[in-house]
Amino acid sequence: MTNQQVVIFDTTLRDGEQSPGASMTHDEKVRIALALERLKVDVIEAGFAISSPGDFKAIHSIAKTVTESTVCSLSRALEKDIDRAAQAIKPAKQGRIHTFIATSPIHMHHKLNMTPEQVIEQAELAVRHARNYIDDVEFSCEDAGRSEVDFLCRVIEAAINAGATTINIPDTVGYTLPHQFGETIKTLIERIPNSDKAVFSVHCHNDLGLAVANSLSAVVNGARQVECTINGLGERAGNASLEELVMVIKTRQDSLKLDTGIDTRHIVPTSRLVSGITGFPVQPNKAIVGANAFAHESGIHQDGFIKNRETYEIMKPEDVGWNTSRITLGKLSGRNAFKVRMEELGITFETQEALNEVFSRFKILADKKSEIYDEDLQALVSDVCSGDVPKKYVLLMMEASSSTNKQPTAAMVINVDGQPHEVTSEGDGPVDAVFKAIEKVVQSGARLALYNVSSMTSGSDSQGGVTVRLEKSGRIVNGIGKDTDIVLASAKAYIDALNLLTIEPRKTNPTSAIM
Ligand code: KIV
Ligand code: ZN
Repeated sequence: MTNQQVVIFDTTLRDGEQSPGASMTHDEKVRIALALERLKVDVIEAGFAISSPGDFKAIHSIAKTVTESTVCSLSRALEKDIDRAAQAIKPAKQGRIHTFIATSPIHMHHKLNMTPEQVIEQAELAVRHARNYIDDVEFSCEDAGRSEVDFLCRVIEAAINAGATTINIPDTVGYTLPHQFGETIKTLIERIPNSDKAVFSVHCHNDLGLAVANSLSAVVNGARQVECTINGLGERAGNASLEELVMVIKTRQDSLKLDTGIDTRHIVPTSRLVSGITGFPVQPNKAIVGANAFAHESGIHQDGFIKNRETYEIMKPEDVGWNTSRITLGKLSGRNAFKVRMEELGITFETQEALNEVFSRFKILADKKSEIYDEDLQALVSDVCSGDVPKKYVLLMMEASSSTNKQPTAAMVINVDGQPHEVTSEGDGPVDAVFKAIEKVVQSGARLALYNVSSMTSGSDSQGGVTVRLEKSGRIVNGIGKDTDIVLASAKAYIDALNLLTIEPRKTNPTSAIM
């Protein structure tokens, strides 16, 4: 008997982007979408079309570019949202509209101010309206994890009658327990008379660290789509992580008798791409994609591993894309070799000038670093292609010193609206001196909420990837900087974050939006 397929629905670009500070530029979203397509994700939720013109444009571009995966837009159960979602996904070879309304007593009463009957009516109207545009319509019962099962049965039956082809049961606040959630899915599938006309899906948040366990329990009880994100990115504690779900299903086929269409060899590169773009580092002990996930440190483990790797290893690192990072190019590589490798990574250039600019940065990097890895190439594009972010602050020059017996200092020249400002500062380390110097000029009033440095590849000449998270008046942004010099990377990250703070927040959060 062949294993049953589980549809992998990735929402990194929508729910993932709702993580505080994880906003991505248009070009970054397209690059992530291409990586998801390479990973063979079945459905890519590319955004929430009505939330902002930027989201609309990104969904539209992804719908034009991606051909293998279904491209989906989220919409509330409102005609105007659905119209916008339909326009955004119009160019897609396979498109989907995902519409949702809250079904828990607390959400219906306090957020929507609607009666249960009105919610059923609105859900039916929304699904019917979406079906006027497209056959592939997903309907979600927001906060299903805290909704009454009898009511869920009524709404879902109505939504399927109206034409929904996928029914999604979100645990929006990460409240459910695996055995309960599995039981709910089983009950819904058994009790809803037309349940065989739709694929049941789940969307679990990780507030209690149970998102993957809850999703698996649902799958064991009949769900055949899981919604997830790369690195578990997402609102608050995030969503179920794609890499964990996919690898559980693959590694434990013996028990689960399930399969996905994912090409697991692209998991680690995709994880790194998303982490590099969003500035959300991956914890070293994170399953599958953490730096230590396949490291065997203790003597007993190493001994067993050398005798037979299966003593301590249940998956092969190469199966999830460790070791696939290649030393691709070097100082002597020409423009054509560079362009070809970039295309292999899914990066294309719209104009010759764009190619030239990234190529000249590549040459500068190749002078500093003898071996250029794929991660380095991805980083070059992030630096150049985040052109849709206006730059109020530009770093023109930086010098920082550290020594065993002198106070670290920094001297910098920063352009503010085109005007150069020279500044110096001391600090408790060169990075502190640099941040203080920048703040002397900018006086942002922002709070440094996170500072993280990680090496992007192996070797002491690796580029350092720095994330600087700033918080100001409740707003959080993540600035990113990359350089072989980590103090310079830190300065770039701080200035990137300051530039992000100058831009108006771009969109409405779908789950907090009022109908
Ligand atoms: O968590 C949630 O309920 C959602 C829905 C909009 C699907 O993200
Ligand atoms: Zn969600």
